[in-house]
Amino acid sequence: MKKLIEQLKRRKNAIILAHYYAPAEAQEIADYVGDSFYLAKIAKKSTADIIVFCGVAFMGESAKILNPGKKVLMPDLMADCPMAHMVEPGLIQRMREKYEDLAVVCYINSTAELKCQSDVCVTSSNAIKIVKALPNKNIFFIPDRNLGRYVASQVPEKNIIINDGCCPIHASITKAQLLAQKKMHPTAPILIHPECEPELLEISDYIGSTAELIDYVAKSPLDEFIICTEDGVDYKLVTDNPGKKFYYPNPHPCCMDMKLNTLENILSVLEKEDKEVFVDEAVAAKARKPLDRMLELGR
Ligand code: 13P
Ligand code: SF4
Repeated sequence: MKKLIEQLKRRKNAIILAHYYAPAEAQEIADYVGDSFYLAKIAKKSTADIIVFCGVAFMGESAKILNPGKKVLMPDLMADCPMAHMVEPGLIQRMREKYEDLAVVCYINSTAELKCQSDVCVTSSNAIKIVKALPNKNIFFIPDRNLGRYVASQVPEKNIIINDGCCPIHASITKAQLLAQKKMHPTAPILIHPECEPELLEISDYIGSTAELIDYVAKSPLDEFIICTEDGVDYKLVTDNPGKKFYYPNPHPCCMDMKLNTLENILSVLEKEDKEVFVDEAVAAKARKPLDRMLELGR
């Protein structure tokens, strides 16, 4: 199957992008693997005719918005991020009416419609930098309450109002699960994604995006780590760090939407070119502004 995928990729001038939460088999065959920020930058500058995005809907959508001339395909169009929809309709408008000088900061894990109503997008690897750089005092952070709270703790000079959305995978990891790992592996530092609850961040040693956690491990002289994020990162961690050991909360955090990016689905979509991402031109034009602003401010 891998051979067929390689042949089709070459014949059709296609590239495969995969997020670190995609299945190992997708990461293995991908041309680019990374966190949300890295993949958005790759999608924007790609010269391929076809981009196959092994991620979830908001990622394929962002790729199409940033590079509208390309055909963007998703191995499974059902792969979606529940958090991307978690802003109550009308709330952004009400906040804009309530606060003068408000910037709506939108985590990239959001629908194109939410991006249209926002001033700037962020990812977990650039949110602090971008919020600090904004001229506004008042920030409405959507949709993730946990990333929002983490940013607020790092940028106390701003008034950050937080929307009550969350990643069901990260937010359901409990402190008890994390402490159980710490008890079994007392010398291993806890590396955690900011989509987790604040009480877990408080007992952790390092907080970062998927790429930042992976980078931390690569640079660390230690050989055991407790990894508190979706377990798709294990492929990259194990491949790049032979001899190092990785422990996860039990049960392993697993995003079933990301796992829809199987080799079968990748092959099928490259053959048939049937699962294409379409974004209404008027919506794309509006949503492109906060995405481009993120690329500018996040540089
Ligand atoms: P990052 O890869 O940007 O850390 O994103 C995490 C995530 O939840 C993507 O769905
Ligand atoms: Fe969404 Fe969470 Fe899955 Fe990421 S891990 S795609 S934030 S549900």
